[in-house]
Amino acid sequence: MPSEGDIVTSSKTMRIGVIGGDGTGPEVAREALKVLAAVAKLESFSYELQDFDFGGERYLRTGEVLPEGAVDEIKQLDAVLLGAIGHPDVAPGILEKGLLLRLRFELDQYINLRPVKLLPGVETPLAGKGPEDIDFVVVRENTEDLYCGVGGFLKKNTPDEVATQTAVFTRKGCERCVRWAFEYTRKRNSPKKMLTLVAKTNVLTYGHDLWWRTFQEVAKDYPDVKTDYNHVDACCMWMVKNPEYYDVIVTTNMFGDIITDLAGILQGGMGVAAGGNINPDAGGTSMFEPMGGSAPKYTGQNVINPIATINAMAMLLEQTGQTTAADRINKAVAVVTGTKMKSQAAGKMGYTTEQVGDLVCEAL
Ligand code: IPM
Ligand code: MN
Repeated sequence: MPSEGDIVTSSKTMRIGVIGGDGTGPEVAREALKVLAAVAKLESFSYELQDFDFGGERYLRTGEVLPEGAVDEIKQLDAVLLGAIGHPDVAPGILEKGLLLRLRFELDQYINLRPVKLLPGVETPLAGKGPEDIDFVVVRENTEDLYCGVGGFLKKNTPDEVATQTAVFTRKGCERCVRWAFEYTRKRNSPKKMLTLVAKTNVLTYGHDLWWRTFQEVAKDYPDVKTDYNHVDACCMWMVKNPEYYDVIVTTNMFGDIITDLAGILQGGMGVAAGGNINPDAGGTSMFEPMGGSAPKYTGQNVINPIATINAMAMLLEQTGQTTAADRINKAVAVVTGTKMKSQAAGKMGYTTEQVGDLVCEAL
């Protein structure tokens, strides 16, 4: 049932930025936009798109990753859909730092939300596990840790070279993420209703001590949520052995990056895994993306799986208040993976990229 709040939201025109990006990014983004058009019609809400040509091609042409004023322009939007970035002719780090990480930081998208759900019909490498076993969510802090770019070289390119790369953790950055994760766990309201902190308190006795203390303190405000702690190495083991144990995980930026690739393969891989870079504050702009890269070798072949990007679109709609539209997409995707697609791997789906997008639209 829509509440009064939902009705107000749907009468306003949503403004969505689209960064198709590199490689197969534009192809998968196109399918997600097709699904958006179909669901907007069914749910009668209106939206406007603003296209941005950021990515490797533009960088090679102009030497610019993000043009002057781009961040301010994006801040005016309600949300952003990102296809993929990464170009074979651009050195590693330039686009990642100059576009993806810069947007995460400057838009203060302090939550990286990565749902891990095995959909019907999707294959997992875990023997004997099915959709009822693989259904958890990772909440990754998204603005601190080793990602801050704090560090440097001393005596570079000499035998005495020193390199430092410092992990930065702040009480504010940690607390807002942990609190959001508790709220999320409460709202998700699964029978487990459990939030697991994943860190490495036995070694990282400063930064992760801050996380541990903050977690304990914030937990007092959520007596209805069960709390739990795993060291990150043990978490990797449990995630493979007993994925059904987890409900919601909250973790630091670097560990979150690593464990969500592991989690991503458990749910069927990069063809289906999606994530959101979320600024949950009022007026914040969030950005949603498939977890996979630009897959240059499949570019332009109409074989890449658009499901992850369609899932990212569902997350975008959920975040912007179009929850019934989001549910509708999620259900349609489950029908398509469960009854139509042969595989989630590029070129093996039994359908082209465009056909998978059409199937989701039909199933809506
Ligand atoms: C991810 C990616 C990025 C990250 C890279 C591309 C900077 O791996 O979104 O998980 O490390 O966060
Ligand atoms: Mn990653």
